[in-house]
Amino acid sequence: MKIVAAVAVKLWLVALLIAVAGAAQAQARYEGHKKCGSCHRSQAESWRNTKHAQAMKSLEPNARAEAKRKASLDPAKDYTADKDCVGCHVTGFEREGGYRIGARNLDLDSVACESCHGPGRQYRLLHRKAGQAFESERKTTPRQQLAEAGEEKEFRERCNACHLNYEGSPWTGARKPYTPFTPKVDPKYAFDFDKALDDDKAVHEHFKLEGVFTGPPLPPFRDRLQARAQPGVMGKE
Ligand code: HEC
Ligand code: HEC
Ligand code: HEC
Ligand code: HEC
Repeated sequence: MKIVAAVAVKLWLVALLIAVAGAAQAQARYEGHKKCGSCHRSQAESWRNTKHAQAMKSLEPNARAEAKRKASLDPAKDYTADKDCVGCHVTGFEREGGYRIGARNLDLDSVACESCHGPGRQYRLLHRKAGQAFESERKTTPRQQLAEAGEEKEFRERCNACHLNYEGSPWTGARKPYTPFTPKVDPKYAFDFDKALDDDKAVHEHFKLEGVFTGPPLPPFRDRLQARAQPGVMGKE
């Protein structure tokens, strides 16, 4: 009788662990750029003028014909539903809440906020709560909570996964499907993270933060980018 009870408890614990793991995973969910942009108006406006915001359009027939020809692609072909292309031209490809070929894909059909900052469902709620606490009583929130909620603070690996993913790449994580646009096709496609990071026309312009979040982990380049940041406009969800 005792043994049966012990086994039952163990099975119950296993079921609980699976449920908890499932819940944590479900929270690391992509939501699309509209959610972020409703508050971070200035970054959203600046991002809309980048090529990342138009990345899906480049897969349409006859778009960027010259570049495609140079990379031995067929300029007349429609690549917008091609699984060898779409992954790097959208947000959260085949991840929870992310882009899926043939699905509705609201606000996910470009390289948007969460492609770089991480899936936003969980940390977005923290931003709102922390923003309100700061506004009403100047209370700050430890940045550690953002990292735990899946907000990206390193960035390099995320950029590399799209930009350095080709055969013979210096990046050791490279695996198929590869990008057709490599330094062999044209040296201008060589990717230098530190240089690219300072290209506001590629990422987005930077706007002054008030310091709602404090402490580690901070990206090593935060101070550099904030030093030239402009005052921005914040909206509400
Ligand atoms: C309800 C409004 C709201 C939404 C929605 C929102 N944020 Fe924020 N976010 C804030 C506030 C408030 C801050 C703190 C700003 C400050 O310190 O001046 C912040 C801070 C940030 C920071 C800086 C964090 C740090 O380390 O200091 C980043 C990056 C950011 N948000 C990105 C995003 C992204 C990406 C999304 C969408 C997934 C998003 N936010 C959604 C309100 C929001
Ligand atoms: C999900 C894949 C993906 C991620 C993540 C990504 N990029 Fe890109 N990036 C692209 C694609 C696709 C293009 C080309 C868009 C187009 O022209 O259609 C591009 C274009 C660029 C360009 C060229 C822009 C221009 O104006 O010529 C730069 C620079 C760049 N990205 C830097 C970065 C940096 C820095 C990061 C990380 C902070 C990053 N990217 C993250 C996919 C990605
Ligand atoms: C591993 C990620 C990845 C895959 C897979 C991928 N791309 Fe891209 N693509 C990129 C990146 C990164 C850039 C930006 C290169 C740059 O400007 O440095 C880009 C840029 C482009 C451009 C713009 C080039 C220019 O100079 O204007 C086109 C067009 C394009 N890709 C089409 C495709 C097609 C078609 C496929 C499938 C056959 C594909 N891509 C697959 C990552 C990828
Ligand atoms: C190509 C990658 C990339 C994309 C796409 C992107 N960001 Fe960023 N973002 C960055 C990087 C890198 C930083 C600097 C990180 C830091 O200082 O913590 C940054 C910083 C920020 C900050 C902090 C304040 C500032 O202006 O530097 C906010 C807020 C933010 N991004 C919001 C957004 C929103 C909203 C979107 C979508 C509309 C977006 N980002 C799209 C890479 C990206």
